[in-house]
Amino acid sequence: MTTIIRHVRPGDISALIDLASETFLDSFGNYHTPENCDAFIAQSHNAEVYEKAIADPLQLLLLAERHGEFQAYLYAKPTTLPVSERLLSAHELSKIYTRRSCQGQGIGVRLLQNWERWAKTQDQKDVILGVWSENHDAQRFYNRHGYNKISEYKLSVGDVQDTDFIYHKSL
Ligand SMILES: CC(C)(COP(=O)(O)OP(=O)(O)OC[C@H]1O[C@@H](n2cnc3c(N)ncnc32)[C@H](O)[C@@H]1OP(=O)(O)O)[C@@H](O)C(=O)NCCC(=O)NCCS
Repeated sequence: MTTIIRHVRPGDISALIDLASETFLDSFGNYHTPENCDAFIAQSHNAEVYEKAIADPLQLLLLAERHGEFQAYLYAKPTTLPVSERLLSAHELSKIYTRRSCQGQGIGVRLLQNWERWAKTQDQKDVILGVWSENHDAQRFYNRHGYNKISEYKLSVGDVQDTDFIYHKSL
């Protein structure tokens, strides 16, 4: 059976939090102190955030699953990024993570395309996202799929301020 992309259901939340924590630590654990990682995970990946996302028709929470294993997830929502007036109603890719052992198999692009198709059905003309200035792999992935940098801003990870780039794509 191949990987399927589907909506997250309430019964998935606990395993999703495990996946989100594991993939965050694998990706960025070396760049932050354990305390800052714990603070970021507790704030961003908790049951309340995901329960609200599932219940809110303006948010999208997708899973990639194969043989019952959660391989990747995507979380998107109305933007809270500091953007110009014109983009205040854009939809934002908040998180996309593929488990390390599953990267480079085309799962990320399937999640991205599912979100873009969904955003079009919501009459969205613009999609945006924030990406860490040092995350060159993800920047290349987004560039390859039609996203361009439009600005940058500071993001707090625990008590550290990172520079994030804002990328945009017209649908
Ligand atoms: C960015 C990320 C989500 C991409 O997910 P992914 O599942 O690896 O994405 P894909 O497999 O679709 O594409 C990744 C690469 O594999 C290649 N690829 C795509 N399909 C492929 C396939 N069937 N076989 C082999 N390689 C493939 C693509 O060319 C792509 O290369 P690129 O990075 O140069 O664009 C993933 O690398 C990740 O989780 N990174 C760490 C967390 C992160 O940085 N998240 C983004 C925060 S802003």
